Amino acid sequence: MSMDFTDQRLSYEKGSLDQSSVPASPFELLKGWINEATEQKVKEPYAMSLATCGADNKPSVRIVLLREITETGIVFYTNYESAKGQDIAENPNAEVLFFWHELERQIRISGSIAKIDADKSAAYFQKRPHDSQVGAWVSQPQSGEVINRDVMEQTFAQLQSDYPEQSPVPTPEFWGGYEITVDNIEFWQGRASRMHDRIVYYKEADGSFSTKRLLP
Ligand SMILES: Cc1cc2nc3c(=O)[nH]c(=O)nc-3n(C[C@H](O)[C@H](O)[C@H](O)COP(=O)(O)O)c2cc1C
Repeated sequence: MSMDFTDQRLSYEKGSLDQSSVPASPFELLKGWINEATEQKVKEPYAMSLATCGADNKPSVRIVLLREITETGIVFYTNYESAKGQDIAENPNAEVLFFWHELERQIRISGSIAKIDADKSAAYFQKRPHDSQVGAWVSQPQSGEVINRDVMEQTFAQLQSDYPEQSPVPTPEFWGGYEITVDNIEFWQGRASRMHDRIVYYKEADGSFSTKRLLP
């Protein structure tokens, strides 16, 4: 039996976005919106949907955590041998999306992905909680099939005894960060009557950003 949601609708009325008053840098607006999301108690405002598409031309999407906003892009960490890692190896174009219902806001960021410096990945890996470090070793290859949960638990327990709480867990070569160098960032603010505000920053040939308003 089908389910019908066509009567479900909300009116978005919490804010507005004016092209003449946005900052020159999209990164400034991104940081400002993330700060507001944090203040408004959005749970995990750093969680973003990452869309990739490998050589098979089949898009796939999943959540990853934004870990840094740099001068040129955004950084997340993952297993380089995961399904997404394979997509990225075949096609560096990607898009991420944030949606914060509490603020009636959406952000879309597109650009090209590259691995970050291995030393920087290692520095972050070593900062992570011990259990997360062990978990990264268990999940190898991430996205590979595992026959049941017991197998995972046994590997976890074995690694916990190999690397007790106080001993350092080596940084896996298959794990690290990616930076998406930003080409476009679109900021979407919901408005009443579906007259939403959409301001997109796009990169010019000289690397600076210009803005334009898009129809909702
Ligand atoms: C809230 C949340 C945060 C997540 N953060 C990450 C992350 O930072 N890195 C990561 O590799 N997977 C993260 N995941 C798991 C991914 O969504 C995904 O299941 C995993 O990376 C495998 O994706 P793939 O098979 O497309 O490579 C997160 C999932 C959720 C729900």
